[in-house]
Amino acid sequence: MEHIISLRDVYKSFGSQQVLKGLNLDLPKDKVNVIIGKSGGGKSVLLKHIIGLLKPDKGQVLVAGEDIVPLSERELANIRRKFGMLFQEGALFDSLTVEENVAFPLREHTKKSWAEIKEIVEQKLAQVGLKGMGYKMPAELSGGMRKRVGLARALALDPEIVLFDEPTSGLDPVMSAAINHLIVRTKEEFGATCIVISHDIKATMETADHIFMLYEGKIIASGTPEEIQACEDPVVRQFILGRADGPIKVI
Ligand SMILES: Nc1ncnc2c1ncn2[C@@H]1O[C@H](COP(=O)(O)OP(=O)(O)OP(=O)(O)O)[C@@H](O)[C@H]1O
Ligand SMILES: [Mg+2]
Repeated sequence: MEHIISLRDVYKSFGSQQVLKGLNLDLPKDKVNVIIGKSGGGKSVLLKHIIGLLKPDKGQVLVAGEDIVPLSERELANIRRKFGMLFQEGALFDSLTVEENVAFPLREHTKKSWAEIKEIVEQKLAQVGLKGMGYKMPAELSGGMRKRVGLARALALDPEIVLFDEPTSGLDPVMSAAINHLIVRTKEEFGATCIVISHDIKATMETADHIFMLYEGKIIASGTPEEIQACEDPVVRQFILGRADGPIKVI
């Protein structure tokens, strides 16, 4: 199996807090890869390492075989063109309209005319259920709508690799199902590799090709949904069954 992204023995601390502790991960190409793990466990930190927004204290981050850790900001900018990212908080530009937000990567990275860009933006907004909303400002939207604008922006360039940090949190069940469907379509129609962080176990079991569980700074289990469901590790069992009692201590 071809791996588009590999992390090798990655360590990351913030001050005295160790978040990643010798993490190893191989993500297969052209699949929906879902990363699960407890809140505050380092999932968003892990995604930020994959696009070079954070650098590890130690270890390698290989993207299509190339270690991106030693690269300069300028070299990283090239690599980032392969990626689309939906940030957990949306990370929209508050002073730009919805249309300008989604158009942003197209204006930065392509030489397309404004008419062509507008057409793509309309199409991406329609895909996330926001047809005709291009004129709105982010502050005029609900949390779920902002998330979907972020999703439209992440998909604007039809990227090879798309990172989705909790794409369905805060969305109603029907909208969540539609977004999960869009993620699977992104893989099937554009041949993209999807890396998804999710707390929705049911949806994960339905949409993932591979699941990876992050716990105490390492990937402690990985496999197909069936393999994860059959996994006997007590940490994995507690997590996928959503039980308060077990080895994972939260309070
Ligand atoms: N830039 C930063 N500076 C200092 N600490 C950070 C920084 N980014 C993350 N952390 C810390 O790293 C830990 C992991 O954070 P992270 O955001 O990756 O968690 P998470 O698994 O995504 O949680 P959630 O499911 O709640 O989104 C947290 O304790 C957080 O406070
Ligand atoms: Mg997070």
